[in-house]
Amino acid sequence: MQRKPSSPAFRDASRPVEERIADLLARLTPEEKIDQLHQCGVGDASPNNLAARADEFRPTYGSFILNGITADLALRNELQRRCVGESRLGVPAIFGCDVIHGYRAIFPIPLAQACAWDAGLVRRLCASAAEMARAHGVDWTFAPMVDHCVDPRWGRIAETFGESAHATGAFAVASVRGYQGAEHSIAACLKHFAGYGAAEGGRDYSFTGVSAQQLWEDHLPPFEAAVRAGALTVMSAFNDLNGVPASAHAELLTEVLRTRWGFAGLVVSDWNAVLQLVRQGFAADGAEAARRSFNAGVDLDMADGLFRAHLPALVRSGAVTAGRLDEAVARVLRVKFLLGLFERPFIEPSALTGAPPTEAQLALAYEAAVRSAVLLKNDGAVLPLAVTAGRIALIGPLATDGGALLGSWAQHGRGDETVTMAEALRARLPAGVGLDVAAGCAIEGGGEDGFAPALAAARAADAVVLCLGETGSMSGENASRATLRLPGRQEDLARAVATAAAGKPVVLVLVSGRPLELHTLEPLVPAILAAWQPGSAGGAALADLLLGRANPSGRLAITWPRTAGQIPIYHHERPRARGGREGAYQDIETAPQYPFGHGLSYAAFRFGELRLSAGSVGVGETLAAELEVANTGGRAGIATVLWFIRDPVASVTRPWRELKHFEPALLGAGEKRVFRWVIVPERDLSFPGADGARRLEPGRIEVWVGDQSRSFAVAG
Ligand code: GLC
Repeated sequence: MQRKPSSPAFRDASRPVEERIADLLARLTPEEKIDQLHQCGVGDASPNNLAARADEFRPTYGSFILNGITADLALRNELQRRCVGESRLGVPAIFGCDVIHGYRAIFPIPLAQACAWDAGLVRRLCASAAEMARAHGVDWTFAPMVDHCVDPRWGRIAETFGESAHATGAFAVASVRGYQGAEHSIAACLKHFAGYGAAEGGRDYSFTGVSAQQLWEDHLPPFEAAVRAGALTVMSAFNDLNGVPASAHAELLTEVLRTRWGFAGLVVSDWNAVLQLVRQGFAADGAEAARRSFNAGVDLDMADGLFRAHLPALVRSGAVTAGRLDEAVARVLRVKFLLGLFERPFIEPSALTGAPPTEAQLALAYEAAVRSAVLLKNDGAVLPLAVTAGRIALIGPLATDGGALLGSWAQHGRGDETVTMAEALRARLPAGVGLDVAAGCAIEGGGEDGFAPALAAARAADAVVLCLGETGSMSGENASRATLRLPGRQEDLARAVATAAAGKPVVLVLVSGRPLELHTLEPLVPAILAAWQPGSAGGAALADLLLGRANPSGRLAITWPRTAGQIPIYHHERPRARGGREGAYQDIETAPQYPFGHGLSYAAFRFGELRLSAGSVGVGETLAAELEVANTGGRAGIATVLWFIRDPVASVTRPWRELKHFEPALLGAGEKRVFRWVIVPERDLSFPGADGARRLEPGRIEVWVGDQSRSFAVAG
């Protein structure tokens, strides 16, 4: 009897992945292997739009980027049908997309999410984003961004989780679990590896001079935590890190990522980052760029096509070994096998495909927007607005701009369907309270011709809400700014409105992707609410926060500079050699406008006495720090306790404060709760040296919470 030809081993899902990889590698030709290492851009947001050059398509390409509105499930399945059906071995492609903070429903930007201090919330947001994105053909998101940045001039600070390496690591792990752990899981991608956020002058794509000590203290720990949490992919960065571009940095990409951390997934370059090695002066031409990047450890080349163009000759010449080629292809195949793409290469349409945001997604977006807003100032308890009759004037160009609420990387989110602050406020005001809306000026540019109606509205009102800030594209990639001033004539408008509304409650709501300069406006307005870019439900969330239907609970995950001249300024600075006025600025306050961790509530929280369970702790032991918090306010609220340490004497100078633990908790009116942090010395009190090796040193450690501290000894 004619035996049915057995299916090749790589097609047998019951076999171990490593066996399937080995079998498929043995069958692929060198040309097919090299095509697996090419990622091709499609969709209207990609300059390399495949639709514009269909001849470029090869069914053996390893991956495609689905960016832009036209990149949808139909396009994905059509491309996948050709990859699986027209290639000799039917290897499926993997489809990537920047799903940064939601997809169809848009969630607050990551910097905002970090201000909610809730890793569980971040995980839920990523799981929901994964479900939406998968319904539109996405297997792989280029997120979370875990870059470390203390410079708000860099537009991409909006995509970070703030300045704390500890918090960034916690939120990165939560993101990986949200994207990869859900029922509709998609591969996560840790980016941008590494040091990208240290861009000189905040200028995107610039040189980054990062000491080994800072690299190991601030930039690498979040990547390591997320790699160990099982992230399937990493993206190499654009920046020139201390003279070696990150996308050709063998020490980072191989010694650290592979040898030290045991990462087995794939490394994809950032867009054209291989080609950019030529402009950066690290390669004479595309062939040298491909060789240096590939041999350093980049496996998949995004967009520029240099691997596809030059690896055949490089392999033939021996400049790239067959072993390195197989290693890279194995990593790409490993991710594809682990995602189940060989068994399920196509994505079936679902109820979410092509659908507008669902009620559940909008409810989650609302929860996140309320939790991430930070009440920076509230003198005289101006907020919540207690207007029961009369008129409210809502003034500013952001009041009626739905798109600006979505921020950068808003994928399939739609500004025209996003409820604005004006619409949300109008829908919520009690009968008898009128709302007058006036833009006053444009977000940027323009003149004062809109001032008059705005000032008239302010004069006629019983309370004024200013809604100012940035458009979504003023932060994110390639959005560097030399100042943090409010764009255009917004600051002049605010000053004129504050004068016209003298004696009345005036609230400033800031919609932005970064901290903005407030030192001239701050004295003029009694209440300031940082909304960040709150997403699809941002209008509703802000209206409810202003009217007291929701209670603000956000705490700053980034230090808020008084002015760009203070940058860099952050909570984990080292102590200066001299204190007091020595080393302080002679021309302005040296303290930031608002410190890391700052945030007010409509409730009132009283911190009890900080207590330690012992006066010393040794290796292998733990020590508990406890603090009772009472909600003495008349309403429920979320209290977040941020726990810091200081190591006053060590073999390497240590930061003035280091965030090491955080916990939010809802406390009812009058409720008390003991917050407890169990300190594990090896985890919480060790620190890396310039070689990356962590060390735990004997000596005294201070625990800080609020303005309290206690110290204990770490036994030798
Ligand atoms: C961009 C960004 C990166 C993004 C990639 C794909 O240039 O730097 O964050 O994931 O290209 O769009």
